[in-house]
Amino acid sequence: MHPPLLSPSLLAGDHARLADSVRVVEDLGLPRIHLDIMDGHFVPNLSFGPQTVAALRPGSKLFFETHLMLDEPHRYIEPFAKAGSNLIAIHIEPTYDHAGTLARIRALGCQCGIVLNPGTPATAIAGLLAQVDLVLVMTVQPGFGGQAFRRDMLPKLRQLDATRRSQGLNFRLEVDGGIDLATARECHAAGADTFVAGTSFYGAPDRAAFAAAFANLG
Ligand code: DX5
Ligand code: ZN
Repeated sequence: MHPPLLSPSLLAGDHARLADSVRVVEDLGLPRIHLDIMDGHFVPNLSFGPQTVAALRPGSKLFFETHLMLDEPHRYIEPFAKAGSNLIAIHIEPTYDHAGTLARIRALGCQCGIVLNPGTPATAIAGLLAQVDLVLVMTVQPGFGGQAFRRDMLPKLRQLDATRRSQGLNFRLEVDGGIDLATARECHAAGADTFVAGTSFYGAPDRAAFAAAFANLG
């Protein structure tokens, strides 16, 4: 079992001062940050691209976890790897060579993750579980920060955690969307160990206390 890990989502940071918003995470001693990439097609919103990730890279030692919400993620693996991503997570829903793309991410020296929208069952990624470092269960429909947590995703977490145990696998099980301390506790009880938090992190009155609480979820 992996210890609980908080991954703040830069989407909720100040976009006029992205480097400062990255530093906020680093200054708390947290190891990881979540970068949301949107194409306006797979999700009805746009965020930022590889040029922004590359610009942030020299100023930070954080583990960059890049969440690609793209119709054609396989076309953008190299740019995001070259930009300095440490992990690239791709959605299962679009049609492309998922296994081949995960292998390509790894060949480029990054960890790889597979992501499920709320409407996609855990069974859709059964054949990929042995290949990934991370399974990301969306707990909102992706596209925007600040949405309400979907409690109906808890059975999916339990199912993936059970499969992980029964198959002796070691991927991290992450949740993204509507995560605060209360919903993180529910997800942790269901098997999640990695927690993306945008609005609740950047909006927290005491971010250090917020981050510390995540280390002691159990
Ligand atoms: C949603 C993104 C999330 C988002 C989460 O489309 O994938 O990473 O930033 O935001 P909050 O934590 O505000 O729900
Ligand atoms: Zn995300």
